[in-house]
Amino acid sequence: MLPDGVSSFIDKNREIFVSDLMRFLEIPSVSTLSEHEKDVERAAEWILEQFQACRISGRIYPTARHPIVLARSPEVRGAPVLLVYGHYDVQPPDPLEEWKTPPFSPDRRDGCVYARGATDDKGQFLTYIEAVRSVLGAGLELPINLVFLVEGEEEIGSSNLEKFLTDHIAELRADAVAISDSSQFAPGIPAITYGLRGLCYLQLDMQGPRFDLHSGSFGGLIENPAHALATILAKMKNSDGTIALPGFYDDVLPLEQWEREEMASLPLDEEKLGDYLGVSRFTGEPGYSLLERKGARPTLDVNGIWGGFSGEGAKTIIPGKAGAKVSMRLVPNQTPEKITELFQRFVSENTPPGITIKITDLYGANPVLVSRNTAAMRAAERAIEAGFGKKPVFIREGGSIPVVNLIKKHLGQENILLLGWGNPDDGAHSPNERFSLDDFHRGIRSAAALFYEIARG
Ligand code: BES
Ligand code: MN
Ligand code: MN
Repeated sequence: MLPDGVSSFIDKNREIFVSDLMRFLEIPSVSTLSEHEKDVERAAEWILEQFQACRISGRIYPTARHPIVLARSPEVRGAPVLLVYGHYDVQPPDPLEEWKTPPFSPDRRDGCVYARGATDDKGQFLTYIEAVRSVLGAGLELPINLVFLVEGEEEIGSSNLEKFLTDHIAELRADAVAISDSSQFAPGIPAITYGLRGLCYLQLDMQGPRFDLHSGSFGGLIENPAHALATILAKMKNSDGTIALPGFYDDVLPLEQWEREEMASLPLDEEKLGDYLGVSRFTGEPGYSLLERKGARPTLDVNGIWGGFSGEGAKTIIPGKAGAKVSMRLVPNQTPEKITELFQRFVSENTPPGITIKITDLYGANPVLVSRNTAAMRAAERAIEAGFGKKPVFIREGGSIPVVNLIKKHLGQENILLLGWGNPDDGAHSPNERFSLDDFHRGIRSAAALFYEIARG
């Protein structure tokens, strides 16, 4: 349900909301790069200003790295509390030469805005602020109590969020949580996400000789760390695509029959997906469909690999060191802690003598499944129907959002609503990231409708 006044306010102010989004997207709040520290801070301040302009009072809390914005609307006695989470940090924009327009000069074309952070997560999060503006703009009071938690470290693992949550438990108490940081199933098929994969992200460094050596003088005498690295990485997967770390699948919660049937009924266009990705064939764990593999099965991937000489021409050396970044997407009931141990054991058992190894934990997140049979879910379904004109489907996503599990664990919260307004081909983390302005508009409508539906109970 969306009051007529709110609905028409959203329609009339569409252009103003787009210009707000453009200003937000101009701030290069890249959390992983220290040269952008001030920009990250500026993004937090920008959000606080938006809150202040719609009577939401809040504060910026410093953390060991990037600040957190916590804010709340004026109290509406007896009304439920909705906690809204978002992240204002973005991924690095590189490779820059692949962008048609610069990543932090948002560009409007073919019904979308193109910029780093457009869909992940600035555009999606901003819908909630515009929804508040629209309720007030229509001359109404908010029907619920809103608490906003907006962080600047999601893209780097939310490592300071756990302490913040436990320090502010009372202020974060809520009847439900809304997070728009995922996507629709496909354009025009809105979705509610009920599962996210976790993540275990490690760096593996291998040291051979003390420095790069002449491969003629010393080749054949000592282990080559680049080769040892390649061998060990290759051994991590079996030829059928399954993961070979002993014990890796032990805790994996199997898919249930109803879930497999439900996933199979979703209209996935494999050909279109292949075209978008530029690949002619899909591969992966045998016996599982694409959607099962993406949402409910674990993975192991090399994200980057280095070592030795890779410049122009040839240089005859045995490299002194080599390394790789390896991430594993986890599913219930795997934990990053246990998977890290398995990985360490596998690496030490498979490293040839003469090579020393170092494993660094970059970050982790727990996988999560949320209850689907709750009143809050029904409210979210109605809100999406009001905003998108269609009932949502239920999906499991392959990405990770660390806060979801932290909220479940520390706030004991089961009502977590993962409502993605974006699309799988928005290009999150890729060059030319975008967000459809129609989806932005529908997201604002759905966010406003959610306030009323949650209030209704
Ligand atoms: N919004 C994404 C998570 C996401 C991606 C949800 C796809 C649903 C579908 C989030 O910003 C993200 O990129 N998370 C990181 C997690 C990390 C850095 C701990 C990820 O999944 O790689
Ligand atoms: Mn995100
Ligand atoms: Mn992201």
